[in-house]
Amino acid sequence: MFLTKEQQMMLDGEYGFAIAKLTKLVVKIGEVNDATKLIPIKNAQIAGVSYFTVGDPIFSFFNMLSKDKVKVSVPSWLNPAGMDMERWEEMGVLESFADKQRRIIQHYKEMGIETTLTCTPYLIGHQPKLGDHLAWSESSAVSMANAYYGARTNREGGPSSLASAIIGYTADYGLHKVENRVPSIIVDVNTSTANFSDFSALGYWYGEKFHGVIPYFKGIKNTHIDQVKMLGAAMAASGSVAHFHIENHTPEARKVDMNYITNIVSFDEKDKKQVYDHFNQIKEDANLVVIGCPHSSLEDIQYIHSTLGEKSIKEGIEFWIFSSQKLMQTDDAKKFLTNLEVKGVKIFTDTCMVVTPVIRRNYKNILTNSAKAAFYLTRDGTNKVNLLSLFEIMEGVSE
Ligand code: F3S
Repeated sequence: MFLTKEQQMMLDGEYGFAIAKLTKLVVKIGEVNDATKLIPIKNAQIAGVSYFTVGDPIFSFFNMLSKDKVKVSVPSWLNPAGMDMERWEEMGVLESFADKQRRIIQHYKEMGIETTLTCTPYLIGHQPKLGDHLAWSESSAVSMANAYYGARTNREGGPSSLASAIIGYTADYGLHKVENRVPSIIVDVNTSTANFSDFSALGYWYGEKFHGVIPYFKGIKNTHIDQVKMLGAAMAASGSVAHFHIENHTPEARKVDMNYITNIVSFDEKDKKQVYDHFNQIKEDANLVVIGCPHSSLEDIQYIHSTLGEKSIKEGIEFWIFSSQKLMQTDDAKKFLTNLEVKGVKIFTDTCMVVTPVIRRNYKNILTNSAKAAFYLTRDGTNKVNLLSLFEIMEGVSE
C-alpha cells in the first residue's frame, strides 16, 4: 500500500506507540481489502460504548491509548451506551454496571470525543455531506450516511473507527470507491409503506434475502428521514446492507450506473405480512413497549404525544422511548416531554433497547415498531416480540 511520508512515520512509531498500533490496524484492514492508499476522513462515529457489549477487555485497550495521551484528530461522536447516564437507576441498571459505564465514557471524553451517545448523529446537527469520506461504525448510521446523505463510509468496527478518528485516515476500499456503490438488484415495492414499521419490514425482508447486496428501490413514494432510517436499520440488521438507493429520492439514485443490475424482484403485500407474522410471537400480554430504534426524532415523539391525546399508558405496561440527550434538551422537546412522562411514557436518552442489559434481564414480552430491535431482542431467545405499527401499539396500550 502506498503511504505518504507522514503516514509512514505514524506507522513507524515516530508519533508514539499508540499511533503506530492504530495506524497498523487501519493499514492491515486496507491490505486485506486490497486498498492501495489511505484517505483522510471528515469525521467518525464510534461504536463499542456500552459496557454490556464491550465488557472488561476495553479497559486494556484504553490503557494502551492513555499512556500516549492520544486524542482524536477529526470531529468524533459516540454511539449509545448501556444506560441513560442520568436516569440509569430508573431503568433498573445496577451500580456496578453504571460505574464501569461511566469509566468507559470518561476514557472516550479524554480522547476528545463528543459524548453524543446516539446512533442518529445526523438528527443533532452532524449531517454528512455528499461525497464526504467518513469512518462510521453503527450499522444504521452507516446506511443513512451512505444512502440518505451520499457520504462514503464502510461499516467500521468500534476499534477501527476509533483508530481512524485518531489518525484521521481510513483505508480506501469498499464504499469509499464509486464503483462499489452501484446497485445490483431493483426492488419494485408493490405494497403500501404508510407506516414506519412497513419500512422496517421492507428492510428486514430485503436484508434477509439479499445479504450485503446494494438495492435500488422503486415505487416508494414517501421518504421522510424517519422512514428511511427504519428501512436502512432493518436492512443492515438482517443482511449487513450498508448502502441503498431509492428512485427519485436518495442523492445518488439519479446518476447511479444501472448497468450492473442482475436481478429484479418485487416486494408485495404477502412479503410484508410474512415479516409481521415472523415477529408476531407474543401470546400473553406484553409488559414493555420500546420505540426508538434507530433513536427517535422529535417528530416520532410528537406523533406519540398527539396519538396519545387525553389518554395514558395502561397500568402494568412500561412504555420506553429512546433518543439522544441533545435532542431532548431542545425547547421544542421540552414542550411535550413532561406531559408524556405524566402519562406513563418514559424517554430515556444515551442508550437503547439493544445495548442496555436491563431489557433482557427484566422483561419478556415486548412490543416494538422496529424490525431491527425485534431482530436483536429475539436473537438469543430471551425475549418475545410483536412487530406492529406505532398506531396499533398506541391503540393497544393506552386508555
Ligand atoms: Fe440505534 Fe440501538 Fe437500534 S444503536 S439502531 S437504537 S439497536
